[in-house]
Amino acid sequence: MKTMTCIEDLRETAHRKVPRAFIDYAEAGSYAEQTLRANRADLERIKLRQRILCDVSARSTATTILGEPSALPLSLAPIGLCGMQHGDGEILACRAAQQAGIPFTLSTMSICSIEDVAAAVDKPFWFQLYVMKDRGFIRALIERAAAAKCSALVLTVDLQVLGQRHNDIRNGMTVPPELRIKNIIDIATKPAWALSVLRGKRKTFGNIAGHVSGMESVTVLSEWTASQFDPALNWKDVEWIKSLWPGKLILKGILDVEDARIAAKTGAAALVVSNHGGRQLDGAPSSISALPPIVDAVGSDIEVMFDGGIRSGQDLARALALGARSCMSGRAYIYGLGAAGQAGVARAIEIMRNELDVTMALMGVTKVADIDRHVIASL
Ligand SMILES: Cc1cc2nc3c(=O)[nH]c(=O)nc-3n(C[C@H](O)[C@H](O)[C@H](O)COP(=O)(O)O)c2cc1C
Repeated sequence: MKTMTCIEDLRETAHRKVPRAFIDYAEAGSYAEQTLRANRADLERIKLRQRILCDVSARSTATTILGEPSALPLSLAPIGLCGMQHGDGEILACRAAQQAGIPFTLSTMSICSIEDVAAAVDKPFWFQLYVMKDRGFIRALIERAAAAKCSALVLTVDLQVLGQRHNDIRNGMTVPPELRIKNIIDIATKPAWALSVLRGKRKTFGNIAGHVSGMESVTVLSEWTASQFDPALNWKDVEWIKSLWPGKLILKGILDVEDARIAAKTGAAALVVSNHGGRQLDGAPSSISALPPIVDAVGSDIEVMFDGGIRSGQDLARALALGARSCMSGRAYIYGLGAAGQAGVARAIEIMRNELDVTMALMGVTKVADIDRHVIASL
């Protein structure tokens, strides 16, 4: 694992180990992928100030997220089909996050269910909710998350309809999934992956299977899911969800100042500035360019989190400098999971922690709270 020196190493290894269809699914953005590319390009443009001869001997990457201690200003983002990057992927990633002392978010579209993960880990995790047309099912999901003692509900608000990802269609990652000959041949060349998935607890959407009647087959299940995303979702539904959820609520997928202002009035504990990793509105601004105006508008009213393009500790510093209180990582930990399961996720977190620590030292900063716009050399 020591030879995995950066997130890019984990990415390259994951590309060798995980079948093409699932790697493409993880890497893709929607349509021409302009927003996906902008997420990285705009982060890389931000230059940090190098400061010298400051005493940085006593420094810490620790902070709080939603009032709880966290070893890093980082949480693991919800990733659908995480358990297809590696068998039991959700459990392994959650364990790695908890051992590293940071929050993990389980997706509605996970392979392992809420109950599977809760039974396999020691501490509470966050649950991400997609609101579907079947509101009885949503109520039941929220009750299940509460029963499993999830410590926050992450309500994703940027997926009322699905942005198209071309490669998912080409690879047969459509709904229902198509088993094409080229996918089968590819899987045959990835035996370690196949074994891990075969041995995994589940092979389909764990939160949904068995909870909607007549949903035993993967095909029917997938069709139901695709038809269930709700274009009618609106702010009134956020009120309804808030009335059902007893704990902390996080609104994920906000990119516009007007929306951020409304979000801050809902009583949610936090919002996540996010464009879903460039997978929804292609042509939308990069997450990092949307962050400063949102922080200026609502940063003192609600905790502002950030995701989109984080691949290093330097990127964490950039987002914090522009006002994020913490960041979510999506693909960076998914590469670790595909590369080496739980150890790979642990390595991804460790890489970003070490990079943040050294970056802080070289910027002359000793505390996460001191990473603000003063550490930026140019935008
Ligand atoms: C493969 C994949 C699956 C995702 N699935 C979900 C999901 O189920 N729910 C959700 O709210 N966001 C989902 N997202 C978005 C991530 O939570 C996060 O916003 C995004 O990955 C951040 O960008 P990054 O990958 O550049 O870190 C997904 C992203 C990827 C790459």
